[in-house]
Amino acid sequence: MNHDAAMAVVEFSGGKGNILWAAHAERYSKVKNDHYLNQRIVDEAMTFGPFDKVVYYEKPLLKKTRQFYAGQYGLAMSYTEMPQWHLDHFNIKIDEYVRHHDSHAAAGYYTSPFTHATILTVDAIGEWNTVSISTAEGTQIKTQETIDYPHSIGILYSAFTHRCGLKPAEEEYILMGMAAYGKPKYKDDIYNDFVEQSPFKLKQNLHRGIQDWHPEADVMDIAASIQQVTEECLADLWARASRYASSNLVYAGGVALNCAANKVLANMGLFDNIWIIPNPGDAGSSLGCIAASEKKFIDWQHPFLGHNIDGEYPVDALIKELKENRMVGVASGRAEFGPRALGNRSLLADPRGPEIKDLVNSIKKRQQFRPFAPAILEEDVNDYFVLPKAVKNTPYMQFTAACTHGKEFPAIIHHDHTSRVQTVRKTDNPGFHALLTEWKRQTGCPILLNTSLNIKGQPIVNDRADGKAFTNKYGVKVLG
Ligand SMILES: [Fe+2]
Repeated sequence: MNHDAAMAVVEFSGGKGNILWAAHAERYSKVKNDHYLNQRIVDEAMTFGPFDKVVYYEKPLLKKTRQFYAGQYGLAMSYTEMPQWHLDHFNIKIDEYVRHHDSHAAAGYYTSPFTHATILTVDAIGEWNTVSISTAEGTQIKTQETIDYPHSIGILYSAFTHRCGLKPAEEEYILMGMAAYGKPKYKDDIYNDFVEQSPFKLKQNLHRGIQDWHPEADVMDIAASIQQVTEECLADLWARASRYASSNLVYAGGVALNCAANKVLANMGLFDNIWIIPNPGDAGSSLGCIAASEKKFIDWQHPFLGHNIDGEYPVDALIKELKENRMVGVASGRAEFGPRALGNRSLLADPRGPEIKDLVNSIKKRQQFRPFAPAILEEDVNDYFVLPKAVKNTPYMQFTAACTHGKEFPAIIHHDHTSRVQTVRKTDNPGFHALLTEWKRQTGCPILLNTSLNIKGQPIVNDRADGKAFTNKYGVKVLG
């Protein structure tokens, strides 16, 4: 229950967890960022049951104390906002509640390749914490310091998302994309009016937005300004986190989805290794709360954990469409757990040529300024992109990187000459890896344009019926 409800099923044996399945409620209800579970996702989860223990990702009574403090009396008093009330509809009994930031931290650390780390969690808000720094040694995680509501980088960014005419707690990624088109003219004003950088503090509670702030301003300039302020405040938090002993950073919480900031932060060189789970926001905490409860590592293989569409990955059929210069959808194998389509629920195109960006944007009814992401074989990435320091690969599109061949691939280059690149390796996704390998062999082009396969305003395609609906709506084949 939150702005992106999700479920995960984990089996523990031999001291480690094995993820059996994990999925977002929206992909089953077809309500984008669905706040609530629905019968279809619960039914699919139950095929992996029965369950020994059900864990929930935050403490509802603690959250209510914050809602009272914030003056949200209706929410605080409402029993229909209690998670158990909702889960009673599905005959699910919650056995344990884990703190919100403990769920985030555990989702990150217990799926990481590390045996020790500093964990930095930054989000809008759970119960009270908005930033937490924890240290992890073996299977033990210890919270070292926190920042609490109303001082929240996530709420600050969401308030500006709303100010720029976008949907808060949902369209922050569009604001991030707009930032490249503006100048940070209002940076000093943001500091003067709202933010103390070090230690991070808000000068006023922004939960109710800032709609009338600088009404004359160009929204692109506002976007550039808040993006830069956010990066500076996050840089300060990364520096604080680096004072703890570990050279490994686990970065968690919804703010870790800001791939433009992640590039700047990784380039500071404060950590030798960085791990961000592909689903660092609240949906990923469905996995994290289980890990936090068990205090055991989870054998992380890849993010393809959701609904399964049977059959071979349709490499030859996809190549045929792409070589005829057509966009093509693929819906094959298990759906991605996380907000990005990484090859199993993707809309693909040849990234060469000047028209393809406008064409895909017009099909998807997106703002024309928005670029698309490139997928490239991991072994080729350094020939075409400059990855940030401490980033050896980016299989989940978590960092932007400068492209050294921008003129050849205009559809995947943003205004600031960066791309949200996805490096593809066989162990993650053998089908998508085979497609890129064959595409490169036949055309000499090492890159494919990869965007999520979804109808505008709807979640990413989940099952075969969704794929058919996409074809009917847009006339684009969906293979798989
Ligand atoms: Fe969160």
